[in-house]
Amino acid sequence: MKYFIGIDTSTTATKALLMEKSGHVLSVAASEYSFETPYPLWSEQDPALWWSATVTSIRQILADTGISGEDIAAVGLSGQMHGLVLLDEDDRVLRPSILWNDQRTGTQCDQIRERLGFKNLVQITGNNALTGFTAPKILWVRDEEPDIYDRVARVLLPKDYVRFKLTGKYAIDKAGGAGTLLFDIRQRDWSSEVLQALGINPNWMPETFEGTAITGLISSTAAQETGLREGTPVVAGGGDQAAAAVGTGAVKEGIVSLSLGTSGVVFATTDKASIEPEGRLHSFCHAVPGKWHFMGVMLSAAGSLRWFRDSFSPGTDYDTLVGAGAEIPAGCDGLLFLPYLTGERTPYPDPLARGAFVGLTVRHKLPSLTRAVLEGVAFGLRDSFELMRSAGLSEINQVRVTGGGARSSLWRQILADVLGTELVTVNSVEGAAYGAAILAATGVGVFTDVESACERTIRVTGTTSPSAEQVVYERLYPYYRDLYPALKNTFKNLAS
Ligand code: XUL
Repeated sequence: MKYFIGIDTSTTATKALLMEKSGHVLSVAASEYSFETPYPLWSEQDPALWWSATVTSIRQILADTGISGEDIAAVGLSGQMHGLVLLDEDDRVLRPSILWNDQRTGTQCDQIRERLGFKNLVQITGNNALTGFTAPKILWVRDEEPDIYDRVARVLLPKDYVRFKLTGKYAIDKAGGAGTLLFDIRQRDWSSEVLQALGINPNWMPETFEGTAITGLISSTAAQETGLREGTPVVAGGGDQAAAAVGTGAVKEGIVSLSLGTSGVVFATTDKASIEPEGRLHSFCHAVPGKWHFMGVMLSAAGSLRWFRDSFSPGTDYDTLVGAGAEIPAGCDGLLFLPYLTGERTPYPDPLARGAFVGLTVRHKLPSLTRAVLEGVAFGLRDSFELMRSAGLSEINQVRVTGGGARSSLWRQILADVLGTELVTVNSVEGAAYGAAILAATGVGVFTDVESACERTIRVTGTTSPSAEQVVYERLYPYYRDLYPALKNTFKNLAS
């Protein structure tokens, strides 16, 4: 039992990662693909792309290291959440997969809230109905493509289509299941009430498994295609956010992970199924058996800085751009930035929300605007922390920050000051694929549980503590909070 593979089927590539028992990563390979936008707001992908990318990436990590498929002890899966894959009676894919970032299902989300009642829906599933989730997509196919709907025999998520190709089994992890909006979050399984209210056949839904459970074995066909050994266990793994949290060691209550990529994700483990009653936070099952998590998603986090750089200072490297911002005092002489450049998800699920600079004077030059972007993103992320506290998360002891934005020491300092907590970086950088490999190793008994697996493999590499500037941000945060309610109608008018 020496080597483990984690696979992450993301929106842009399928990554395979080869890990030693110690947690050391020996090789990573990614095979890229794109997604289609056949109509505005649509986002689709052909499941065949995921499978061929899986095969290529697995073959590449085996070739790179010279390690034989015979020596791989287990495989763990992770991937983009919420995507809909429909199979017919003969396991044929019925239509391109509708992805997490597809926005076509507004009408169906309204229907779901009406059928179940908003409060009831949130109490059962832990979540409001969002256009990206799986349940409204199933209803969209029922409403708009009845010929396809009539032939549905199986519903899977992207990662679980890869699982099906690897093992021949229909199975799903609890974290992915919770992201469909068809789960009873407390029971950690399909909700018969929700399925019935929406008229979805329960036989279509795969069996659900905890993150470390073995869901099947590599089939002989998959062994031939990938070079893995027939009979290798494949563990459930988790949706990409839950697996990434395992990959950074955010597996205990009190440790929050903050991913500062294009989008910003705040992820907090909870020991019980905690729910934000207005559904403003996501509440899903964790990939850690028997645990749950809150999640807040900001759509343009480091994406805001990229937009700003590309639009106003193209060609400037981030260090130079952000370095000039470091010369500006905290609070930018009364300038605020609202980061809703691509609409927002948390705390305002509003596709019409827009970005704004508020408080501009002739004194503000490019460096002030740069710093305001960093601060505005930090304020927006604080909104998720505040919601989590109000929903019962009593302690936040440490924030583990990852993603491209975490490379900036100024941004880390601003975040520590705005959030008022210690911020740390960790040695693992491969996120979901690494978490999937840890879940695989735990699933076959290398570690006693996910918590001890993370303690053994993940190390803190740097710490940023709040500074005296925290008081400036405490004063400014309420002014930031005033902006969206004041501008909401303006955004709507402008969008129309
Ligand atoms: C999670 C989410 C994204 C997708 C794609 O709720 O929407 O993280 O899983 O990565």
